[in-house]
Amino acid sequence: MDLRYLLDDPSSVLSPGLLFYEDLIRQNIARTIEIAGGPERLRPHVKTHKTREIVRMQLAAGITKHKCATIAEAELLADCGVPDVLLAYPLVGPNCARLARLVAAYPRCRFSTLVDHPASARALSAAFAHGPGIDVVLDIDPGQHRTGVAPGPEAIALYELVAKLPGLRPDGLHIYDGHHHQESRADRESAVSRLVDQVLTLRDTLVARQLPVPRLVLGGTPTFPIYAAMNLPGQECAPGTCILHDYGYGSRFPDLTGYVWAALLLTRVVSRPTSERVTLDLGYKAVASDPPADRRCWLLNIPEARIVLQNEEHLVVETPAAPRFTPGDVVYAVPTHICPTVALHRQANVVRGGQVVGTWEIAARDRMLHY
Ligand SMILES: Cc1ncc(COP(=O)(O)O)c(C=O)c1O
Repeated sequence: MDLRYLLDDPSSVLSPGLLFYEDLIRQNIARTIEIAGGPERLRPHVKTHKTREIVRMQLAAGITKHKCATIAEAELLADCGVPDVLLAYPLVGPNCARLARLVAAYPRCRFSTLVDHPASARALSAAFAHGPGIDVVLDIDPGQHRTGVAPGPEAIALYELVAKLPGLRPDGLHIYDGHHHQESRADRESAVSRLVDQVLTLRDTLVARQLPVPRLVLGGTPTFPIYAAMNLPGQECAPGTCILHDYGYGSRFPDLTGYVWAALLLTRVVSRPTSERVTLDLGYKAVASDPPADRRCWLLNIPEARIVLQNEEHLVVETPAAPRFTPGDVVYAVPTHICPTVALHRQANVVRGGQVVGTWEIAARDRMLHY
């Protein structure tokens, strides 16, 4: 097992427990800045860690523009002193007025958000018409068909509407291409290049109509190195996962070099029901269950273990090494998908030099802080 992850004394860590390796997080932040070519080209997504202390590490590294998906995350960022927050999620219903209240409470922070439909643009305008207003990026559907408008006539009409609606200022385009997860770097590159052509055509059309398009917010982690190698006008790269990194991205994208797993789970053997089986206290209430059932994590110190069953609080694995384990033994797990895993934990145990030195609150795991 990689000795960097071994705790000198795990006895104080309750299991299942989330471990944040501070130095490795710092290393991933530095690597992200290096790939981007400077902190000013970044807008990392906070949803991966939802943690004040990591936001402060990013600010200290010079990253001033941040991205989030919930109003609680936006509040956490503003409260940490982040000067520029993009809430990249379509706001509807009472969340429009809720964001307006948050924006009013943090006048030193420049907030922006996105729209992808005339109805939500009008609702947002109603909430912002009587204050200083808000910058709005247009969410472009890059082919994932999750949110966004196709980069064609509908997008032009919506951008023009945003420019006319009181309280809204058109401020660029947002493109999150989460479906670009081709394992081959060359395949991902050609998909991105086709998309960028469409986005630049749209941008040129909008600019020709006297509409400002000052920025393009682009991508997540798998496409980050590809966008980072480009030099597009007003470009901002928006990866999130790479700050903590996980087994899913680590095993699928070998071109994401220089990243290390910076968040693990500490679990313990609770039972050894047969001579081949070990049962851990790592159910799907402790590790994200969106990956396939037999691939929710990888066990660092039982690498050959095969996951055969997972319930709410149990993870059962089969391994020829089972006889070596007794209840109470510590096992280190690398989550396949770190972002929802983090959100399952109220706090992370912070590890520095093999020692647990404290805890950090996963503050924005709550849907609501104050606003
Ligand atoms: C809108 C948006 N932007 C950025 C990201 C970050 O992507 P990744 O997790 O690949 O770093 C995500 C991830 O879900 C997202 O939904």
